Amino acid sequence: MDIRENYKNPLKDIDDWEENLKERYPEHNISKKEKEEFRNYIDSDRAKTVREFYRLNHINQTYDFVSKKETEFLKFNKKEMSLWEAVDFLNTLVDDSDPDIDLDQLQHLLQTSEAIRADGHPDWFVLTGFLHDIGKVLCLFGEPQWAVVGDTFPVGCKFSDKIVYPDFFAENPDNSNPKYNTKYGVYSPNCGLKNVKMSWGHDEYLYQILKDYLPEPALYIIRYHSFYAQHREDAYTHLMDSKDIEMFEWVKKFNPYDLYTKAPVKPDVKALKPYYKALVKKYLPELLKF
Ligand SMILES: [Fe+2]
Ligand SMILES: [Fe+2]
Repeated sequence: MDIRENYKNPLKDIDDWEENLKERYPEHNISKKEKEEFRNYIDSDRAKTVREFYRLNHINQTYDFVSKKETEFLKFNKKEMSLWEAVDFLNTLVDDSDPDIDLDQLQHLLQTSEAIRADGHPDWFVLTGFLHDIGKVLCLFGEPQWAVVGDTFPVGCKFSDKIVYPDFFAENPDNSNPKYNTKYGVYSPNCGLKNVKMSWGHDEYLYQILKDYLPEPALYIIRYHSFYAQHREDAYTHLMDSKDIEMFEWVKKFNPYDLYTKAPVKPDVKALKPYYKALVKKYLPELLKF
């Protein structure tokens, strides 16, 4: 990998970001042994690449950058695909890390949705689990990792120090721009997240693709599932309206399925396909514009 490529994509595997999330937000109180493993992890090369990934994310995600990406991608002129084609397309995303320990993208989606289904949740919630990461096809359109995955956060106002690696924001130009670096920046108190620009990535992109087709809680889950600074840290409640507060209960409900689901037996794609085919058909049109 040459230096320029490395600059674009420091992670060996885009899911290293999610692995890092599990370290930050462990499922249970962690044992001494796990703490030790975590310390080893901190020193590891993988952790260094995650740090570099966040550095690039935090210095490059500016208000103008997001506006540019919106102009570029919300034309939806890249590709027309059925959801199934999109899943297959996403699954061509092959990373150079150990294939034995990592799940492919389809397995992550199915494990998430099957865990939601097993808990008896409504079908739209199951479908949301199944498609929540399809926006990662951005990687296959040549976008750098830091503009596809990673925690998301509002741009256009002060970066919270509750966002992971907050020190890296020092080099973000918006951080020294008086228009953008105050508590509310370009926003007003409790203006509602619908009026707030989030850092650009797979969440916002997929939300924009699906916004006409799914129930409101599903759309909140898709749009804000990487907004850890809010759903885990409550750092931006001052921008939220009462609808956001209500809907974030669903975002919080979804997060453990996304982060901690690892089925002992891999879901059988072939056996599950008829169920998901029917579910997709119930909610989505034949073709989606990416
Ligand atoms: Fe995601
Ligand atoms: Fe996910």
